[in-house]
Amino acid sequence: MIPNELIERIRETADIVGIIGEYVELKRQGADFRGPCPFHQGTKRNFSVSPKKSMYYCFVCHESGDVFKFLTKRLGVDWPTSVKMVAEKSGIEVVESHSRHPEEKDTREPMWEVNGAAAEYFTRILWEDDLGRAARAYLEQRGISRELADRVGLGFAPREIGLMRAHLNTLGFVDERLTEAGLLVVPDGGGELRPRFRDRLIFPIYDVSSRVVGFGGRLLGPGEPKYLNSAESPVFSKGRLLYALNWAKQAARRDERMLVVEGYFDAVRLIGAGIECVVAPMGTALTEDQAKLIRRYTERVYLLYDSDKAGLKATFRSGDELLRQGASVQVVTLPAGEDPDSYARAHGAAGIESLISGSIDLFERKIQLLERGGWFGDLRKKRQALDRLLPTLRATSDPLTRDMYLGHAAAAAGVSRDLLEREMLAPTPKRGARTSGRAPVAAQAREEAVPEIREPADRVRAHERRRTLTARGDVAERELIRVLLHRPAYLEQVAEREGRETFRVKELRQIFDALVEHSVEQGTESLASRLPASAVELLQELLEDTGGLDRADAVLMGSMASLHERSLTDRMTEIDRELPIADERQKDGLIEEKRRLTEELRRLGGRYWKNFRPST
Ligand code: UTP
Ligand code: MN
Repeated sequence: MIPNELIERIRETADIVGIIGEYVELKRQGADFRGPCPFHQGTKRNFSVSPKKSMYYCFVCHESGDVFKFLTKRLGVDWPTSVKMVAEKSGIEVVESHSRHPEEKDTREPMWEVNGAAAEYFTRILWEDDLGRAARAYLEQRGISRELADRVGLGFAPREIGLMRAHLNTLGFVDERLTEAGLLVVPDGGGELRPRFRDRLIFPIYDVSSRVVGFGGRLLGPGEPKYLNSAESPVFSKGRLLYALNWAKQAARRDERMLVVEGYFDAVRLIGAGIECVVAPMGTALTEDQAKLIRRYTERVYLLYDSDKAGLKATFRSGDELLRQGASVQVVTLPAGEDPDSYARAHGAAGIESLISGSIDLFERKIQLLERGGWFGDLRKKRQALDRLLPTLRATSDPLTRDMYLGHAAAAAGVSRDLLEREMLAPTPKRGARTSGRAPVAAQAREEAVPEIREPADRVRAHERRRTLTARGDVAERELIRVLLHRPAYLEQVAEREGRETFRVKELRQIFDALVEHSVEQGTESLASRLPASAVELLQELLEDTGGLDRADAVLMGSMASLHERSLTDRMTEIDRELPIADERQKDGLIEEKRRLTEELRRLGGRYWKNFRPST
């Protein structure tokens, strides 16, 4: 049995136009969509789908019904199957109840309920309580009107520890439920339950059916973290929800576009300015689920991210995900230092619209940045630039768009289209055979996720993650540094042969730098004081590991030999990838270089290191 409640929810969440649109070619007509009727095989547009009523109707044969009925009639599936199909397309999990009580409620109901009650409480504190005074002043100073605040349900969580709990307890919500919803947390050392959100402006986060599923809270003053979200729970999943989608979904379909911004305030400001088709992920780049969600309502997506480095990373990462879902993606460039919130506050909706009209297609923007950075200049850089464009080409699922992108990339890089197409279709090269040197900014986008984790709970997890350097080269780097820490007498000789670029593991490179500048003789304390936390953690680990130190020189030699070999073979791989895009003259050079490398690799044996001794 699928509970009735759930069926209702699936019906109201379903994108009826999208689903029926897979079988009937629909065109917008006013608020509805029209196409030829598949039931009487009509050719005129007499078949109408109303997203508002979630119904279809044929003016000629009078066939009508909801999305489930459409699928049963069109595909001949039974009703439960049609419900499951729609649920899957809508990202709703169908949990069939095996009990004899089909009326049984959705198990998430208690969470929605308690979150809803908490949202009301926060709103009341914000507007009607003395405790909300500072938050009211804050909103005033940020230029958020009462009307707008009410529209998006803003609230305030006071610093006070017991009030919310007492209030919600009185309403019948027991502590257990408050804890499960993440509204209360058990402090680390045990003791009294505390509210998760304290002294924060509260943005309720709604699911697509407008139920409160979680909260985002912003500190009024300085402090860390600036924003805190609800913890992941059965109703709150950061990667599957989009802030403001509940308001944006109608508008996006109507305006045939969706704007994606980074922050709560950006979304709220645009809504206030009358631009309702806007959503914000919650501190992460768009996930596949989120991109799919957006695509249910529109094909055209505008990304309005900061123009700093982190913003660009998020732009390109999110962009690739959207291209994969067949969206057409435009990048809106904001003036440096501005975000959609500040820009719209100063220039209004008209200002934003004018930025939008100056937007550039995602792939063109990528090429533009690479060109400006001189990345199509020398061969090595060009190779890297192409490597950064290929993932986007592969991600682009729309064949026409992809074809156009291929042409542009080939022209920009001055390589043949055939070659690029072949590389695009080739299986994704393994990581690890990475080219050396710094990657272009635009390009790094795919490599490093936007700092997805900005909350204390997650941060702890990152710390707990064991540092496992498994690749052979990583192990060699680690061993080299470890022995140097314990046997600093070798430092001088090692530093003569190895530069910082030998170390690819960031923390090891940092320790090496610190060693060279500082040496261990001044004590590990002083060494640690010049290192970032993650490197200190590794430093500690290395200092505790004292195995094999009696053969220190052998370990050093072995490690350096491995690393040298690694750099030679890496360059060989690189050459193989540069050859196809090289001109005749460059080709000769590469082949000659390859010959030398082969020779050197062959010679690389024990002899190479035989003069290695600690300096005394
Ligand atoms: P930003 O730091 O770019 O701030 O965070 P903002 O949106 O401009 O905020 P204001 O204008 O200073 O208030 C963008 C989004 O990233 C997430 C939040 O969703 C935020 O809206 N974020 C940010 C976090 O999750 N945690 C943080 O500590 C910071
Ligand atoms: Mn901002």
